Amino acid sequence: MDRIELVQGDITQLSVDGIVNAANSSLLGGGGVDGAIHRAAGPRLLALTRTLGGCPTGQARITPAFDLEARGIRWIIHTVGPVWGTDPHADGTERLGYRQEDNLLAQCYVNALELAATHGCRTVAFPSISTGVYGFPIRRAAEIAVGHVRGFLARSAVPERVALVCFSAADADVYREVLEPLDYRSSVLVELPSGGGDKK
Ligand code: APR
Repeated sequence: MDRIELVQGDITQLSVDGIVNAANSSLLGGGGVDGAIHRAAGPRLLALTRTLGGCPTGQARITPAFDLEARGIRWIIHTVGPVWGTDPHADGTERLGYRQEDNLLAQCYVNALELAATHGCRTVAFPSISTGVYGFPIRRAAEIAVGHVRGFLARSAVPERVALVCFSAADADVYREVLEPLDYRSSVLVELPSGGGDKK
């Protein structure tokens, strides 16, 4: 499916209509990609997210992109991924999809895509949600991300394209392994041009 692209680099450098933020439930910023997006969007983002009353895990909220609009990004979709290991009933043997964290992570992708679609995003970029501070195993997260993005695109014409953005080459390798058997063709854009790439 060539509506999914694998990109390695800094998500704030892409020129897409919407970027997804791996936020926390306060929506008040943090480290990782959340910190990078808040830094790039500027103080107006925090001034707005302060008024939103937070966001439960698995759900998503959309805001303007503020200073990132200079780079062609119109929307930031904040979603709160699950912290790995929070399923009280899990014993570590669960198949994919059989842990609470799997379902919550899937909800992040679907809810973010729904907001992207309803706000007219032709292109949207996701970071690898929950696989940093929140400790979600990267391969398991990649399978959930790719599966649910493909499922959404199969039933919706918008967004037209989704970029899955990995910050590290190691993470990109995992996503590539998950994508390739699915007749995945797009090449990995390794070196993002500084100041924003071509419009995707
Ligand atoms: N562009 C793209 N991906 C990035 C960037 C960036 N600029 N910075 C970090 N990443 C990657 C990380 O390498 C990781 O693969 O984003 C993925 C998600 O990692 P985190 O940002 O740590 O997010 P998460 O694991 O979902 O934890 C969320 O961390 O930063 C805090 O406020 C945030 O409390 C929340 C928690």
